[in-house]
Amino acid sequence: MSARNFPSLQTLAPYPFSRPRRLRRHPSMRALVAESYVSPHDLIWPIFVHDQDIPREPIASLPGLERLNCDEALKAAQKAVELSIPCLALFPHIAVDKRNPAGSEALNPDGLIPTVTRAIKKAYPELMIMVDVALDPYTDHGHDGLFENGQILNDETIELLIEQTLVQVRAGADIIAPSDMMDGRISQIREALESHEFKDTVILSYAAKYASAFYGPYRDAIGVKALQGDKKTYQMDPANGFEALREVQADLEEGADMVMVKPGLAYLDIIAAVSTAFGAPTMAYQVSGEYAMIKLAAQAGLLDERRAVLETMTAFKRAGASGIVTYFAPQIAQWLKD
Ligand code: PBG
Repeated sequence: MSARNFPSLQTLAPYPFSRPRRLRRHPSMRALVAESYVSPHDLIWPIFVHDQDIPREPIASLPGLERLNCDEALKAAQKAVELSIPCLALFPHIAVDKRNPAGSEALNPDGLIPTVTRAIKKAYPELMIMVDVALDPYTDHGHDGLFENGQILNDETIELLIEQTLVQVRAGADIIAPSDMMDGRISQIREALESHEFKDTVILSYAAKYASAFYGPYRDAIGVKALQGDKKTYQMDPANGFEALREVQADLEEGADMVMVKPGLAYLDIIAAVSTAFGAPTMAYQVSGEYAMIKLAAQAGLLDERRAVLETMTAFKRAGASGIVTYFAPQIAQWLKD
């Protein structure tokens, strides 16, 4: 029985025959009847990498997080393996002088992401590496696609995303995660992968990605100074739920292996609806703004960080998420171990 398909309540005996507190009296009893569990295996750990001379650089908008150079990223990979975290997601901070309107650095086979991917896969072949497919870290305007006359060009952008995909897969990426929200990109990326003999590359589609205020700190982390306009012509309207089901269905039919709902906590209804409707691996992304909210409140002494974070993880699992992308991943895995 999935926690989402609630049974009919008619079978409940009335008080005092039914006393729900009986099952809450003892920690072992609570453990026995718990419906949702969180394990390090459920986690995807996103890290920010850079090509600066300094090994680590604090990210002002994300207290406790740093941008890492390749050597430090390797240490994070080792930590992930030690903590039984199955997957790292890589996000690049690209030098400003390498950004341009077309995001051409995204296609550089010796660029930052391919370099770090190669290094990690060589040292830790069992660790899954997930990479975004989108141009925003590489463009000077901060959009995920080609931006001309105030418009994001859909089909022209997909041509570049295919190239970006192939560059990253050749470097060893296991999971390709298109986060760009262009229409029709999954089928074209899948066809390109098949025709280049990359038959086993997993596509995790950011299928239901909303135009959200909660991405604010991430844009600082990847160094987007001033986004021109907003992303509302390609990312989804937070008002829409049925549309998320249509987006997910389209991406699964186009060849996605897994789907993402993003952001996380404000979209638990979408996670529940998607996982129930399709039964496909459904990932939740606890995004940068969600991390910052918890972190800053905890630093101010307003809430218990460990309890609050683990509660959000349980909520994602209860809603039906198969896994969670979260900047708290190493702490969570450590807490679960202790
Ligand atoms: C864009 C992308 C974004 C995030 C991951 N990939 C932000 C955006 O769409 O503007 C956000 C991640 C976060 O906020 O933690 N390709």
